[in-house]
Amino acid sequence: MGARKGIILAGGTGSRLFPITGAVSKQLMPIYDKPMIYFPLSVLMLTGIREVAVITTPEDQPQFRRLLGDGAQWGLSLTYVTQPSPDGLAQAYLLAEDFLDGAPSAMVLGDNIFFGHGLPDLLAAADAKDAGGTVFGYRVSDPERYGVVAMDASGAAVDIVEKPAKPPSNYAVTGLYFLDASASERARSITPSERGELEITTLLQSYLREGALSVQQMGRGYAWLDTGTHGSLLDAGNFVRTLQSRQGLQAGCPEEIAFEQGWIDADALRALAMRYAKTDYGTYLLGLLAES
Ligand code: DAU
Repeated sequence: MGARKGIILAGGTGSRLFPITGAVSKQLMPIYDKPMIYFPLSVLMLTGIREVAVITTPEDQPQFRRLLGDGAQWGLSLTYVTQPSPDGLAQAYLLAEDFLDGAPSAMVLGDNIFFGHGLPDLLAAADAKDAGGTVFGYRVSDPERYGVVAMDASGAAVDIVEKPAKPPSNYAVTGLYFLDASASERARSITPSERGELEITTLLQSYLREGALSVQQMGRGYAWLDTGTHGSLLDAGNFVRTLQSRQGLQAGCPEEIAFEQGWIDADALRALAMRYAKTDYGTYLLGLLAES
């Protein structure tokens, strides 16, 4: 078994955010000062993952390439895969099968933003589990909009249901999935739902039935932000702005993580900082050098 590889699923039509997503992909929308996809990418980097497949629509791929390149600037190797039509989250495991080449994976949705003290530990624990999978349950006030965890009296997960009219709990399954090497094979045997999609929940149920899925709580100390509506997108940007200006620290900064992980050296970080010399972001990167 190889090292865990990453997948960022960043396709879809973005129709719930029209008209702002009419010409630009949702996952490239700004979250205050940086493109949305920096946040899920940062989650994979914090896990220690350096090989990542970015799945996009065919039309949007050139913009993602322009923004992220081959990843070498951050010590990463990025592979681009297209999804011709949004046929469901679980399809990502079929599209990325060659890329994964028998490795376990961590898939994160390109519009999911996580923030919280201790996140690297949570990620490390999920990464350490070789067989089966790990997903995260997060308490929300509107579970009917998500995949929802059903639990027995002892709090153990017994089912995961997609957008239930009557949610069995308040715990949504976040868009971050650590699955073992069997994910692609399992995805091949699932059938589309009534809405015609290969549902991630169906794939997760196959693990759950075998007792192979660990559903971890992501507690109230974490922020799992929604970007699904115009209002929540703005709220996410304001959250990041508030946090960053209060702390003087960046959230979702790939340059910083790459430097901390030892994947790029000080000279490389300086060169990246100079590209952004006119911004607070560039000043921040130079500050990291001064502190190191
Ligand atoms: O965010 C977590 C939720 O994500 C989970 O709780 C749900 O179980 C899961 O189904 C998903 O629900 P959404 O309603 O957010 O799914 P949506 O169709 O909006 O897709 C999520 C993102 O993935 C979105 O940015 C578009 C992208 N996408 C979606 C589909 C269906 C793709 O790239 N390809 C696809 O085929």
